[in-house]
Amino acid sequence: MRLDKFLSEAGWGTRSEVKKLIAKGAVTVNGEPKLRPEFKTDPEKDLVCIDDSPVRYAAFEYFMLNKPAGVISASKKDMRNPRELCVVDLIKDNKRGDLFPVGRLDKDTVGLLLITNDGALAHRLLSPKRHVEKTYYVEISRPIDKDIVSSLEAGVDIGDEKPTLPCKLSPAPRILTAHSPEELRDRVFHITISEGRYHQIKRMFALFGAEVLYLKRLSMGPLKLDESLPEGESRRLTPEELSELMSVEAPYKGQPEI
Ligand code: URA
Repeated sequence: MRLDKFLSEAGWGTRSEVKKLIAKGAVTVNGEPKLRPEFKTDPEKDLVCIDDSPVRYAAFEYFMLNKPAGVISASKKDMRNPRELCVVDLIKDNKRGDLFPVGRLDKDTVGLLLITNDGALAHRLLSPKRHVEKTYYVEISRPIDKDIVSSLEAGVDIGDEKPTLPCKLSPAPRILTAHSPEELRDRVFHITISEGRYHQIKRMFALFGAEVLYLKRLSMGPLKLDESLPEGESRRLTPEELSELMSVEAPYKGQPEI
């Protein structure tokens, strides 16, 4: 692997930042200063140091972000306007250029977002074959009755090729949010869906004349939002959280994507 790629993936900065470190002579491989970013190093065997401190190589990194409203679910390279804030900008520990969000939340949706550079895990979690469950807290603009709840749970036609898959809806204790101070009886729910269609929850409620006023993702598969994490903050996953996520199996080969 190229030395600049190795250092960038190990968290020492973007490619151009690590190139400057290399050019300064701060980087040694097995005790020898290396001044060329294209120098080939073997992360398994070589001892790479920056200013005499060994560089620990982490191939993959995993962060939980409590996404705030107003931030776009995209990686830096997917942003049309690089000056606009994206979720990857909120990862404080991030010095590498290859992190991306696993799936997308709308700009005004808040809550759990997994940020990683592990493409295989992302594929497993997002695969339409796996039906990984995502639970949201939702506040809507008008009360809905039991019949509407049953229709939503059974699956509804939101104008896509197929109706939505069955989901679960239950009344939820209210989270205190500034935007909807009045009575919210029959307007606050937990909803668990196993798909990830564009604006899915908003479109499902809109069918019944209810606008989504507030949407917060609470969980994705086995990963639960750490409620002690303030909005806009992130932290690395714990080893336990990571091992639970890793237990989400890969889709069966040969099964059609549905
Ligand atoms: N459904 C939506 O409508 N928006 C989201 O951000 C997530 C699910």
